[in-house]
Amino acid sequence: MQEIRGSMYDYPVYYELAYGTDWRAEFDFLESCFERYTGRTVRRLFEPACGTGRLIWQFSRVGYEVAGLDLNRKAVAYCNERFERAGLAAPAIVGDMSDFRLPRKYDAAFNTISSVRHLPSEQAARGHLQCMADCLAKGGLYMLGLHLTPRRPCYGDEEQWSSRRGNLGVLVRLVSRDIDLKGRNELVDATFDIYTPRRQFRIVEEMNFRTYTWPQMQRLLASEPRFEVVATHDFHYDIDDPIDIDEDSEDVVFVLRRR
Ligand SMILES: C[S@@+](CC[C@H](N)C(=O)[O-])C[C@H]1O[C@@H](n2cnc3c(N)ncnc32)[C@H](O)[C@@H]1O
Repeated sequence: MQEIRGSMYDYPVYYELAYGTDWRAEFDFLESCFERYTGRTVRRLFEPACGTGRLIWQFSRVGYEVAGLDLNRKAVAYCNERFERAGLAAPAIVGDMSDFRLPRKYDAAFNTISSVRHLPSEQAARGHLQCMADCLAKGGLYMLGLHLTPRRPCYGDEEQWSSRRGNLGVLVRLVSRDIDLKGRNELVDATFDIYTPRRQFRIVEEMNFRTYTWPQMQRLLASEPRFEVVATHDFHYDIDDPIDIDEDSEDVVFVLRRR
């Protein structure tokens, strides 16, 4: 199979194929958070690192006012074109989630699948929380989901799934190759096998994710006192089953509320 070294984020059509069908559990959970964890009426939503708009598109379809921001121009263009095709205003802008300013305040925001771990430094992560606190109204929520590195990390972790739509198919394989706890970096080998009627090829990428142990995450959260942690959940996205986090926890969602 022909191999292309590149980033999956530069191929929004294939990114959507790989991730786009999987939105329902996050969507339902986020809506339940809006009802349970704030007294505000939630109408205006913001997603930092929105990518192709997988989630904001679904929220827009049921009447929320949405906005997104992403570093990747191709993902933003894809996201905006989908809205424009439906006769709606383009909701996404190109920007860095560690350093941005929005003209309006939002009722809630979310960032669900470890995207925050793309931020390469503590300074960037703190900048991100500050920007998020700036763009939320008082009582507004920020649901931040990420994989924490447990006390005894599982080296060589592997995840694989496939997805098909019409005559397009993708097989995704993510393998955690190295975890450098001192350097705070997890190296993940990602391959995306793409099947189209005319060609088959593989996108190969080395992805870097900043690591967060539970104590490191607590320090990060404490750096932005305008947020209080009102609940913690995991990637089962069960609103009736909050979890207690400890040093063995892995997939977690923090429900942060703007003071
Ligand atoms: C795993 S994707 C998630 C996309 C989307 N949130 C979703 O749930 O499908 C991670 C996204 O983070 C974006 N990203 C990485 N670093 C970023 C940064 N510093 N600022 C904004 N977006 C960033 C990438 O371009 C990519 O679209």
